[in-house]
Amino acid sequence: MFKRRLTPALVLSLLVMLPMGVLAADKPQDECINCHGDKNISGKSGAHLYIDPLQYSETTHAVIGCTSCHESVTASHPDDGIRPSRATCKECHGPIQQEYSASLHANNAGCADCHNPHAVKPPMELSGKQMNTMCSKCHDTARMIKVHDKWLPQADLHIDALPCITCHTGSKSYVITMYIEKRTSDSPHSDFKVAKYEELSRFLPGDKDVTALIDKNGDNFISLEELRTFNKNAKYDNIRLWGMMTPEKVTHSYQILDNRWDCSFCHASGPKAMQTSFVAFPGKNGTFSRVAVEKGAILDLLYGTPDFYMMGSTRSTALSILGGLIISGGFLFAAGHGTLRFLTRNNRKEH
Ligand code: HEC
Ligand code: HEC
Ligand code: HEC
Ligand code: HEC
Ligand code: HEC
Ligand code: HEC
Ligand code: HEC
Repeated sequence: MFKRRLTPALVLSLLVMLPMGVLAADKPQDECINCHGDKNISGKSGAHLYIDPLQYSETTHAVIGCTSCHESVTASHPDDGIRPSRATCKECHGPIQQEYSASLHANNAGCADCHNPHAVKPPMELSGKQMNTMCSKCHDTARMIKVHDKWLPQADLHIDALPCITCHTGSKSYVITMYIEKRTSDSPHSDFKVAKYEELSRFLPGDKDVTALIDKNGDNFISLEELRTFNKNAKYDNIRLWGMMTPEKVTHSYQILDNRWDCSFCHASGPKAMQTSFVAFPGKNGTFSRVAVEKGAILDLLYGTPDFYMMGSTRSTALSILGGLIISGGFLFAAGHGTLRFLTRNNRKEH
């Protein structure tokens, strides 16, 4: 389902580039990096000309090569004094440009304000938090929490569990993507942070891939049993699974979506409840890859995802009714929430 899609336009542009030797132009790209990958490079204008070589080698854009976007670079660059051209995004991403131009945000930021063209990655290779750093460049997170807190209880928790684009762009459906987080220190009260590959591989013998932490039988699928085994393992006290609700397909239709006021859009029970989930494992190079989880993990709050509690979605009738009450009557919220915490305290301790 999450296979990388090459749109007809992209395939066409790739096909056009192939014969031109652009795709196979490893050498010129290396040459460019020889100079531009040097931190001390600087131009007459004093402009920042450094391209992080490691970051660049991992971006999807590396397949098209520098000169697909900086076509006018000549053989005598940089001595010719000509400033190389820059391709516009719409030359290759026309449909996205169209969608974005029609959105609420079109006049607020351009493509390159959110995306560094030398570091772009597909959505499933990024964590929700990385996506939010695109927004926090202009929308200060602390201020955003305050703004949303006016109507959204525990806005800080929500923003921690939802990339901004989940509420501010349209998508047909949403999935829960779980990231493995690790405590920032040995103190049992310290914060959690998305774990890096090296931090997780320590738990495994030899050079086993970190997916083996949860996917014990290596079938590239996580069963509820495997999830429970991971969550109950005392060895993993300092790591946890943290879920984020993410769009199944990222769009650029920026909006203020009225149905996001409606708590039950997310805190639903029954067949509408969130069923599809993935665990996103960090790779050695800092990107993520997703492994599908058996349906129902999010509902199995005791052992499936003990730290990620989608209120209202549990199978427990008592909790669902409570959740329903809370959701339908905002004023009941504070009292209800306390009770809920109280009712689930043992479950939490058990973990
Ligand atoms: C010999 C070192 C060297 C190589 C090789 C090199 N560049 Fe440059 N490049 C520079 C320097 C120095 C400047 C700044 C020139 C100036 O300010 O007049 C520059 C400027 C640029 C700029 C303009 C930045 C701006 O301010 O707009 C682009 C784009 C660029 N190079 C792309 C490339 C590409 C693509 C390649 C490979 C085909 C490449 N360069 C190869 C040294 C190099
Ligand atoms: C997908 C298109 C694309 C590719 C591939 C690409 N660039 Fe760029 N590059 C751009 C765009 C667009 C800008 C202008 C960014 C902006 O306006 O912030 C840019 C800016 C630059 C700059 C000016 C510094 C800056 O960050 O503004 C340099 C130097 C540069 N590119 C070099 C390279 C080199 C070297 C490569 C290959 C290793 C490369 N680019 C590959 C699109 C691309
Ligand atoms: C010369 C064509 C070209 C230009 C110009 C270009 N891109 Fe791309 N872009 C591509 C190709 C090819 C891919 C890889 C698509 C794929 O594998 O699905 C890609 C991938 C991406 C991705 C990641 C999606 C993925 O699936 O990997 C983002 C984000 C992106 N481009 C943004 C931009 C932005 C922003 C600009 C303008 C600064 C831009 N692109 C300019 C050709 C281009
Ligand atoms: C307000 C911020 C923002 C702006 C502006 C923006 N994007 Fe994005 N874009 C995102 C986020 C967030 C994602 C998901 C994470 C990722 O892949 O980078 C994304 C994803 C993408 C993808 C990958 C989609 C996929 O499903 O593989 C492409 C391609 C892309 N953007 C191109 C563009 C182009 C072209 C523009 C300008 C017309 C643009 N973006 C403007 C935030 C933005
Ligand atoms: C380059 C700066 C910039 C970036 C990056 C950026 N925005 Fe904005 N955004 C603005 C500006 C400017 C406004 C209009 C003033 C305001 O409401 O703060 C705005 C407004 C908004 C609005 C309210 C729209 C309205 O008209 O009421 C939403 C929602 C929004 N941004 C979401 C996002 C999200 C989500 C991201 C990240 C994916 C993002 N923005 C990234 C600059 C940016
Ligand atoms: C739970 C869904 C949800 C999440 C998560 C969320 N928003 Fe919003 N946001 C909304 C709704 C609904 C509104 C309209 C509220 C209003 O008009 O008072 C809004 C309003 C806004 C506005 C305009 C408010 C103003 O008056 O300045 C901006 C800007 C914005 N959001 C940006 C963000 C950013 C950035 C993030 C991520 C840090 C984010 N939002 C996360 C639902 C959400
Ligand atoms: C876009 C989806 C979305 C919307 C809309 C939304 N929430 Fe949430 N909510 C979440 C997610 C995701 C979490 C995080 C689950 C976790 O922390 O385990 C959460 C957590 C909560 C929690 C904390 C549960 C706990 O573990 O302490 C409460 C309370 C809550 N939401 C109430 C509300 C109310 C009230 C509204 C409507 C004003 C609302 N939510 C709207 C997605 C949403």
